[in-house]
Parts: sequence; C-alpha cells; structure tokens
Amino acid sequence: MTMTDTSSAAALLDWYRAMGVDEIIENAPVNWFEAAATAKASEQQPSNKSSRQPAPREQPATPRPGFNNIAPDEAVMDARKRASKAKSLEELETALAGFDGCPLKATAKNTCFKRGNDEARIMLIGEGPGRDEDLRGLPFVGRAGQLLDKMLGAISLTEKDVYITNIVYWRPPGNRTPSTQEVEACLPFLNRQVELLDPEIIVLIGGPASHTLLGTNEGITRLRGKWRDTEIGGKTRRVMPILHPAYLLRTPAAKRHAWRDLLSLKAALKPRD
Ligand code: URA
Repeated sequence: MTMTDTSSAAALLDWYRAMGVDEIIENAPVNWFEAAATAKASEQQPSNKSSRQPAPREQPATPRPGFNNIAPDEAVMDARKRASKAKSLEELETALAGFDGCPLKATAKNTCFKRGNDEARIMLIGEGPGRDEDLRGLPFVGRAGQLLDKMLGAISLTEKDVYITNIVYWRPPGNRTPSTQEVEACLPFLNRQVELLDPEIIVLIGGPASHTLLGTNEGITRLRGKWRDTEIGGKTRRVMPILHPAYLLRTPAAKRHAWRDLLSLKAALKPRD
C-alpha cells in the first residue's frame, strides 16, 4: 500500500467514524462496491427470458444469523405478548433476550437490560446504550454513567438504591437518537419493567426518555425539575425529568440546574415507615 493509499484509507475510516459507522458487524469484510457492480453487470446480461420480466430486486444486506426482520406492528404485538407473560424482572430479561423485533438488536453486541437493585424505590430511565454500555451489557457505565453515579452520590444514593434502564435496550449505531419504531418495539418491555419493579419515583434522564414516557414534545430545559403524576406501567407514578449527564459533560454551566433537581429528588425521598 502506498502512502497515498494509506492516507485515503485513513480519511475514509475517519469519514465512516464521523457518520457513526464505528462497529464491526461481520467477522470478514464485505466489499459492497464489488457486490453492487456484480449485480449491475448481471442485470445488463442478455437474458433468454421475456424482456418484460421485471429485473430481480437487489437483495437486502444479510441480517446477522439468527436475527429476523419483523414488521413493526408485528414486533409490538410480539413484545406485548412476551412482556405480559413475565412474572418477575428476571423472567422479563429472559423474555427480552428471545425478542428479535427491535432492529437495533441486529447491530448491537449486547442487550443492556438494567443496572442496580431489583427492589429499588427509584427508577432512572435514559435514552439508550452507548458504546461502553453495548460492550458491557449494562446501562450507564460510560462517561455519562460515571457522572450520573457522582450526581446520585451527591445526594447519598448508590447503585444499591436505584434501578437504571433505558427506553431502548440496544445501542443505536453511532449513538443516534432511537427512532419511534425502535422505541415502540421496546416499550411493552419497559412498561412491564416499571410494573414489576413498582418504583415510588421515576427519574427520566434527558429529552427522548421524557418525551416517550410523558407523551410530550416540550423541550427538556422546560420539563426538567418539575414533578408530575403520570401513568406508566399500569399505575400513576411520581415522575421527574432531569438533564442528561452527557449534556452536562458538554455544558458544565447547566450543572447548577441538575443540582437543584437532585435536591428536589432527595426531598421527595422521605424515609419509609
Ligand atoms: N446514555 C443513555 O441515555 N443511556 C446509557 O445507558 C448511556 C448513555
């Protein structure tokens, strides 16, 4: 490989990374340029079939072995059926492992079901796993997660006091916001997770989690810090949206708002009788 080849390959990899292509899905690389050229050449081959015959449709990229492509409404029905059968959080995690209706699963390395205590009074729900979470199969373990732990620590809460999950259980490629279809496929599991955990308080971390569970499009800067009673998982719950720690890492000046919201959370946690 010449110097020019190396620098063009490096530039191409930088471009892929910037576009969110930062994970290897197959063990061996696939030359899609060659595959497309072969398909085009075979379309141009004279055929002994009638010229009115439609050209063969290009095959979709091979899904990861064992993964099924399911229509979105079928996926939601399947998710509801599987989630409703689970009688415990453990059973729900097993049910989720057998569910192939969320397209994110095809590109993720691991399912991130939860982190924390199955008996916690406080549930925190974020947007979706990032790279570190995907590698470890646990929510909020990367930089944002470390900041979240520090924030909780500031009001004397540890992993033993909380139960942490996300609105989707698999990493969106390139850490993009999960799509409506991806969120809807996971939602029956999340609702059942709330029902089975039965938390007293739910903290929604960031805009996408707040929008999904509060059914609003209002900006997170307006939503944050305000308590509401909202029905989630078959019961009315005390819910408060907070700023996402990933946003706080980028915007340290917003930490004062986060601090105010944490104090409000602490005040809401009256000791049990
Ligand atoms: N951001 C999230 O919303 N969730 C995670 O699990 C990690 C980062």
